[in-house]
Amino acid sequence: MSAHSDSAAPAPVRLADYRPTDYLIDTVDLDFRLDATATRVVSRLRLRPNPAGRAGAPLVLDGGGLKPLRASLDNLPLDLAAVATPDRLTIAEPPQRPFTLEVETELDPSSNTQLEGLYRSNGTFCTQCEAEGFRRITYYLDRPDVMAVFTTRVEASKEEAPILLSNGNPVESGASGPGRHYAIWHDPHPKPCYLFALVGGDLGSIEEDFTTTSGRKVKLAIHVEKGKEHRAHYAMESLVHAMRWDEFVYGREYDLDVFNIVAVSDFTMGAMENKGLNIFNDKYILAIAETATDADYAHIESVVAHEYFHNWTGNRITCRDWFQLCLKEGLTVYRDQEFSGDQRSRAVQRISDVRALRAAQFPEDAGPLAHNVRPDTYCEINNFYTATIYEKGAEIIRMLRALIGHDAYHAGMALYFERFDGKAATIEDFLGCFAESSGRDLGDFARWYAQAGTPRVHVTGVFDAQAKTYTLRLSQSTPPTPGQTEKKPLPMPIRIGLIGRDGAEIPLVQDHAHNWREEKFGVFELAGPERTIVFKDVPTPPVASVNRRFSAAVILEQELSEDDLLLLMAHDSDPFNKWQAAQSLASRLMIRSTAAIRAGEMPEFSDLFALALADALEHYETDPAFAAQMAALPTENDLARDIGTDVDPEAIFLARKALRDGVGRLLSQRLLTLYDKLQSDAPYSPDAASAGRRALRNACLDLYAAGNHSDGAEIALSQFQRATNMTDKMGALSVLSRLPTPAREKAMESFYRAHCDEPLIIDKWFSLQATIPEPDTLSRVKRLTKVHAFNIATPNRVYALIGAFANGNPYCFNDVSGEGYQFVADLALQADGVNPQVAARLLSAFRSWRNLEAGRRALAEQALRKVLETTKLSPDLRDIAQRALA
Ligand code: TRP
Ligand code: ZN
Repeated sequence: MSAHSDSAAPAPVRLADYRPTDYLIDTVDLDFRLDATATRVVSRLRLRPNPAGRAGAPLVLDGGGLKPLRASLDNLPLDLAAVATPDRLTIAEPPQRPFTLEVETELDPSSNTQLEGLYRSNGTFCTQCEAEGFRRITYYLDRPDVMAVFTTRVEASKEEAPILLSNGNPVESGASGPGRHYAIWHDPHPKPCYLFALVGGDLGSIEEDFTTTSGRKVKLAIHVEKGKEHRAHYAMESLVHAMRWDEFVYGREYDLDVFNIVAVSDFTMGAMENKGLNIFNDKYILAIAETATDADYAHIESVVAHEYFHNWTGNRITCRDWFQLCLKEGLTVYRDQEFSGDQRSRAVQRISDVRALRAAQFPEDAGPLAHNVRPDTYCEINNFYTATIYEKGAEIIRMLRALIGHDAYHAGMALYFERFDGKAATIEDFLGCFAESSGRDLGDFARWYAQAGTPRVHVTGVFDAQAKTYTLRLSQSTPPTPGQTEKKPLPMPIRIGLIGRDGAEIPLVQDHAHNWREEKFGVFELAGPERTIVFKDVPTPPVASVNRRFSAAVILEQELSEDDLLLLMAHDSDPFNKWQAAQSLASRLMIRSTAAIRAGEMPEFSDLFALALADALEHYETDPAFAAQMAALPTENDLARDIGTDVDPEAIFLARKALRDGVGRLLSQRLLTLYDKLQSDAPYSPDAASAGRRALRNACLDLYAAGNHSDGAEIALSQFQRATNMTDKMGALSVLSRLPTPAREKAMESFYRAHCDEPLIIDKWFSLQATIPEPDTLSRVKRLTKVHAFNIATPNRVYALIGAFANGNPYCFNDVSGEGYQFVADLALQADGVNPQVAARLLSAFRSWRNLEAGRRALAEQALRKVLETTKLSPDLRDIAQRALA
């Protein structure tokens, strides 16, 4: 939202209050005359009373700080002063038949720093309308259930903006007066205004032809800053793969003659799925070996796919209201995760998706900002583009599919596409399709959308040597969350395997299997508070591998001994649980060390763990990227979450460091050998196998250096100097960044000199320095906010420096002095004057403040209170501060 005010936050919007609009908009004709500071917009709306609305009701259109110039109804001028304010246009008694409303507004895109509505990024005119940005362009019924056919004419200086784009297909273009030209775009698919987009600028383009399965010829184009065209090819490849995948897996084809992507450098989020004209944060488009890491490539592939997949899940079928946001976001994240799994290693994709879920969504669900996947109420919708809506939303679809099976899932999706195409739908509409395709009552399953908090599943197992049975008892409970004390059980799929002491899989035999999926896939349903499963013909005491592939999005509490975990780590045929066993064992060791350190004792170490880890790394051949995941020990934030309350981030940091240093020392030789063996002289290729080898090699160096500082620094420095791709360069620099050597500062300097012209690389440089776990990092970060390359108005810079410090450096952010909290709160306030959405995201770093030990908790609270006491807060920042403190 835009307007800053001294008054309290706006009244909350409630799902229960939904009612259809009183008027519908059939067509929208827009005419833009682009100008840096005085753009003129004429909007001509064909309206009619909504048969589902209240007859004779006034027409109230939303505006967002608009400057109206004139308005007319059926060509008769209206008295502007009587009908329009900057935030609203009201027609008290509109005709009860179709009518036309024409309004002209004037905008200043150059002074728009909120990056919502029409703004300029590096001179390019562009728009961002989701969720409620269209009202900052013209008066409208700015809500997703109002779907209209848009025709857009854009006129601009030919020199300043040779490229003029909008939604749909190009219809006409030509000259219009001295130095000016125009283009007309028509989008035949009715859509809500949040999917509107317009771009005008002097951009460089790459193009490609695509023919859909049914023979439609589509011109694909990606437009980037001039001179960066050669960095757009990987994004184009990803787009083509995504288009083919959606045809093949979901039977969905593209539906226009052109598909345009524009990359801009000022963008609040990742990207936006505007119909036929996706607009991207350029960090999710631009990549060549010298500038982007393997992780950047993977992100590009998944974000390009995500936005493309929205064409069906989001655009053709949209949301009835913003409470249904997960209808498009959860489903589309699920689809992009599956796509990436098919392009790369399924196991590694699952592990990194779960890592992300645990890192971002679990803390949200366990803290004061917890909310349902479908909220019942919100004050500021922009604050609900959260890990819960996106990532937990995706997990719900994955669980649904595991419960009803592949065939019923795809039959349900086909039904959904058929029944709701061109409509604005709800979660009930969506679930209804799967109830029908599976013949199952999904009433209980729907609770996943209505109940916040992460369920805990407790598992115990008893072996009966005489009867040769193994009895597994599962029980579930969900802790209370703000405003929701009573929690009911949720239906969840738990994938199970049994492993013998010899490491071999034991077949699952039951007297009465509940359904064929249990027998065939080992997927068991836990629907009520508890369930007991008796397995027969179990020869020896097994170890249960529970929640394989992370089939249910829960916290698993299973009593496993260290021997059990070592067995799973070595033998589990499910790669996710093999990885999980290593994580659990490492986490257990480090949590015990954390307690020891707080008690003034020595941290723990386990040779057995380290040796098992070395074995796993050396067996990397089938999937080196998986081995690299094994090497990555739980993060400090992972440990803080597992500890839960009375968290001491400094003790956690020391405990983790002790384990890493110990592993690095004990495994020195083996790590070095592996590092050398993985060396490759082949030219860079971003494919998954090559990326996996680089990831593993860099992980070996990282662990080695943790245990061998001076030697490690030397190897890292030499890798840094020789690297011909950004992955190896950053791998080396990030190892150096954790070593307090003079080589570090020199490497940082030379990196800056080499890349100071490239903002996306300077972001990496900012982030690395912000995450150095040393006491003087805060003063370093403060210094960096003063360098020329930093700009509070550019979201990528703010996330790279301040976001990385607040979320990626728990040791320094949580410094006992409280200065880390003060700094981040101050920066959020500073950002709030420029871009409230960015400010609100920064402040969300406080989401786990209540779990801290008493001293830090008091200091964090103080920082949050100071924010709330500030006058002129945006609704966005106020909403986060208020909920965090509630
Ligand atoms: N719909 C976008 C996506 O997930 C998200 C998005 C892009 C967004 N820009 C935004 C959400 C600005 C809110 C505000 O693909
Ligand atoms: Zn999305």
